[in-house]
Amino acid sequence: MQRIPVAGPWITQKEIDYVTDAVTNAWYGNANIYHERFEKAFAEYIGVKYAMALPNCTSAIHLALLALGIKEGDEVIVPDATWIASSAPISYVSANPVFADIDKQTWCLSADSFEACITPKTRAVIPVDLYGGMPDMDSIREIARQYNIAIIEDAAEALGAEYKGKRAGSLGDVGVFSFHGSKTLTTGEGGMLVTDSEDIFKRIQVLRDHGRQPGDRMFWNTEVAYKYKMSSMQAALGLAQLERINELLSRKRQQFEWYKEYLAKLDGITLNAEPEGIQNVYWMVTIVLDTKYGLNKTQLMERLSQRGIDTRPFFHPLSSIPAYEHSEQAHLARKRNKIVYGISPYAINLPSALSLTKKEISAICATLINVIQD
Ligand SMILES: Cc1ncc(COP(=O)(O)O)c(C=O)c1O
Repeated sequence: MQRIPVAGPWITQKEIDYVTDAVTNAWYGNANIYHERFEKAFAEYIGVKYAMALPNCTSAIHLALLALGIKEGDEVIVPDATWIASSAPISYVSANPVFADIDKQTWCLSADSFEACITPKTRAVIPVDLYGGMPDMDSIREIARQYNIAIIEDAAEALGAEYKGKRAGSLGDVGVFSFHGSKTLTTGEGGMLVTDSEDIFKRIQVLRDHGRQPGDRMFWNTEVAYKYKMSSMQAALGLAQLERINELLSRKRQQFEWYKEYLAKLDGITLNAEPEGIQNVYWMVTIVLDTKYGLNKTQLMERLSQRGIDTRPFFHPLSSIPAYEHSEQAHLARKRNKIVYGISPYAINLPSALSLTKKEISAICATLINVIQD
């Protein structure tokens, strides 16, 4: 039997046709035709004024921090449960990441913990729409407004999710997305930055292009900056995927429903939450196991792997990983963040590839129930 992959895309002839066209025609004067279409369609879909295609989401966060003027000595708050890409760019600009606890239900940034972490040095917060879900953005936005803190919404995992009718990525000063190969909409590697602010957008246009003003004199750089661009082939792939976004999202929701149905008889587990007002897109179907089973995430993953099923661990708290071993903030977070340290050791991401069929999900659930109750 073939191994069940943990993630993977859904590519059709449309994607192949667009990429073929890009590789054939998007050169010389036409080099940007797919970027323009992809960015315009993306901004419309999210409901924002500006969108900029980038090589990945990490560079989008880096540019957002630079454009917001975050600098050495500033503090930026991130949830303790996320991929390191949410926090690494804070160090790129010589600022300090502060690791706030997560909410028990959504697994995203806890508004209370966010507020408790604020100091006079706090300049920005990066709420993360974890695994396709969303945090209590009303409270986070209100706290950020009161303390004059900028919001970079990390919607890398949540394209298409909604919070009270607004699309993920549109709730902060800047929103960022990833199109990595594991994501619902993929360009292989890729990312997008969105904003309603003309000032931020204009600043980012210069920062991402080696300090050149758009349409300026050739090779006349006004500052030393970065080279963060997406290729036409990737933009073409992204556009084709975006034109199929409803189909991609419905499949993800359907797959989650199948998991829910097949795992209904297993007590002592928690799956991704969809609180009132939030539309979860279930990028990664995630299960938290009651401690009564006496199984941690590593043991559970090993047992599934032995049976041909690939999974991923719930993010280890950032404050627990070697990269932040010597960080004073990580030290404080390890003592403070009870929720993330209570959930992360007992949680895994189940296979969530777009190719998974109902039959495969039924088989995965049967195996899961077996290994948990073993
Ligand atoms: C929450 C989160 N933020 C940021 C990123 C970074 O995305 P990329 O790999 O496109 O830089 C990811 C991607 O995996 C992510 O899951």
